[in-house]
Amino acid sequence: MLTSDEPMTQNHKLRILVCVSGGGTNLQAIIDGIRDGRITNAEIIRVISNNKKNYALTRAEENGIPALSISPKDYADREQFNKALLDAVNEASPDLVVLAGFLVVLPEEMTAQYRNRMINIHPALIPSFCGKGYYGLKVHEKVLERGVKITGATVHFVDEGTDTGPIILQKAVEVEDGDTPEILQKRVMEQAEWVILPEAIDLIANGKVTVEDGKCRKDRKS
Ligand code: GAR
Repeated sequence: MLTSDEPMTQNHKLRILVCVSGGGTNLQAIIDGIRDGRITNAEIIRVISNNKKNYALTRAEENGIPALSISPKDYADREQFNKALLDAVNEASPDLVVLAGFLVVLPEEMTAQYRNRMINIHPALIPSFCGKGYYGLKVHEKVLERGVKITGATVHFVDEGTDTGPIILQKAVEVEDGDTPEILQKRVMEQAEWVILPEAIDLIANGKVTVEDGKCRKDRKS
């Protein structure tokens, strides 16, 4: 558990492991953030995908990042998949695990082991439009169904619940007349997700995020 006098890392580059299930645009935002200096003091050491055919794996490959896929389909049962996943995470010795559109129910052991060292990007302003069943495009469908005028994205630490951990950063995005789920998803990604995910990682990599009483405190000063 991090405390205010215990920054996550100071002397070495933060070793990031990114877990993905889809196209990997948030993975790309991290890669770009490291390349253009919005993220300092960090490196991606491994990408793990839960399926073999997603474009995120190509992005990893093109950027020289070791990547592997661990699919539930390749294991006899959930227990064996969970073990393989956790082994593959631990083997890389990450300082921070980033769930960048990783649509997998995590092994409890992984959540416990990476408490305050695992973050997730969610495409809405938690606690709205989150929890079980709220992922990917479905989130934006629900937002449009309800008719809210403001949505956004949230980066949070992962705990045992679904989207319930300490919130690190949020950014609001306007819903516009005529939006479809796809149009809104794109705007939320461009204006919020690809901005706050790199920013949160940079804050963590530079020891500027602490968790106290289930809430994040951040120091943006250098
Ligand atoms: C992103 O919109 C991310 O916020 C969402 O999945 C998408 C992945 O896109 N995650 C969730 O809904 C988690 N509850 P990407 O593969 O292009 O980064």
